[in-house]
Amino acid sequence: MTAPDSLTDPESLRTRALEALTTARERTALLTSCVEDPELTAQHSPLMSPLVWDLAHIGNQEELWLLREVAGREAMRPEIDGLYDAFEHPRAARPSLPLLPPAEARQYAAEVRGRALDVLESAAFQGTRLTEAGFAFGMIAQHEQQHDETMLITHQLRKGPAALTAPDPAPAPLFTGPAEVLVPEGPFVMGTSTEPWALDNERPAHRRTVPAFFIDTTPVTNAAYQAFIEDGGYGDRRWWTPEGWDHIRAHDIEAPLFWRREGGQWLRRRFGVTEVVPPDEPVLHVCWYEADAYARWAGRRLPTEAEWEKAARHDPAADRSTRYPWGDADPTPEHANLGQCHLRPAPAGSYPAGESPLGVRQLIGDVWEWTSSDLLPYPGFVAFPYREYSEVFFGPEYKVLRGGSFAVDPVACRGTFRNWDYPIRRQIFSGFRTARDAAPGSS
Ligand code: AVJ
Ligand code: FE
Repeated sequence: MTAPDSLTDPESLRTRALEALTTARERTALLTSCVEDPELTAQHSPLMSPLVWDLAHIGNQEELWLLREVAGREAMRPEIDGLYDAFEHPRAARPSLPLLPPAEARQYAAEVRGRALDVLESAAFQGTRLTEAGFAFGMIAQHEQQHDETMLITHQLRKGPAALTAPDPAPAPLFTGPAEVLVPEGPFVMGTSTEPWALDNERPAHRRTVPAFFIDTTPVTNAAYQAFIEDGGYGDRRWWTPEGWDHIRAHDIEAPLFWRREGGQWLRRRFGVTEVVPPDEPVLHVCWYEADAYARWAGRRLPTEAEWEKAARHDPAADRSTRYPWGDADPTPEHANLGQCHLRPAPAGSYPAGESPLGVRQLIGDVWEWTSSDLLPYPGFVAFPYREYSEVFFGPEYKVLRGGSFAVDPVACRGTFRNWDYPIRRQIFSGFRTARDAAPGSS
């Protein structure tokens, strides 16, 4: 990887950390000030925490890692640690905890932040693994942004009129390029050992050999997905795994979450507004079972995680892996739909500047993409700095999602970034693209 200078020079990294923390806090403030305080303490879905829990949890994790671990300070409020430990209380139980009320939660997070910025100013960006290249600061900025995405999901689940607005992505001409791209067989480097703020599950870099395969040029669109519905896909057992079939039968699932049919057309609810489902946009709010069934119906399959990353990072001309499909440069609004700049994915085929060397589009941003893979450690994985970030989730219960959605900030998104969830989950900003084997020897 040829990293920009700003990823190696300590003073550039310090500035980068300050900017990342500031951007995250602005977003947190927006997400927790666009509704009245009672809406912050309410539980909008049993799948989600009350927004005020996320807010204080963000502050508590920052206190834990930047003030206690990096700076060696005493706990500010040791009595609240248990409340904000994600492993002590399941999300559904959090509203009945004696949580800090909104004003106190804001005050706590702000106080932690004030002290954390003092620590940032003088911390040595070397010497310990936690502070090397400012890792702990980058990790905490990513953590806050991940909870900001979680809070945006809560806003999407919330009933009532819109609290958030954002401009739509630019309209795009209907994509007329090739539907799929051949990725020739051969090894590539998966994961990273050099990206300074990569999390433990992205490490270390290692070689993988991937047989030749075809992958969709763009994510699967609503129009394509509607064809599956109209063809009776939800009623045809052939397309579903046994678990998937049982799940959709038991829960009467017949379309993506937030969709409803009215007068012969599909409508969807998106951040408090009901609208006609836009045909050319990537499908959103499908679970892994739905993505897997659609792919089988289409005579295809989901890509493996290694296939996805090879499509996103392997530069065949230089025979190396890049940070992003377009190269090593940080994302800009020309490359990808990231950072909650828009409250929806952009039309399929958007962002030509963000395409991979082989021409695959929208791998980064727009919608999280389900892969066929379980969340597993890479060879040589070492949990860092805590087992509960990744290691306790390794195994067959979780499927990997890649690429990030419109709700992911650039600091928490790169070609190596790994997300995961249960195969039944669809309140997340999830879509997918499909793949198929290529004949051996294809090149
Ligand atoms: C990586 C998105 C699955 O939200 O559960 C937040 C991120 N970890 N706080 C999650 C996370 C600890 C995590 N995901
Ligand atoms: Fe967390």
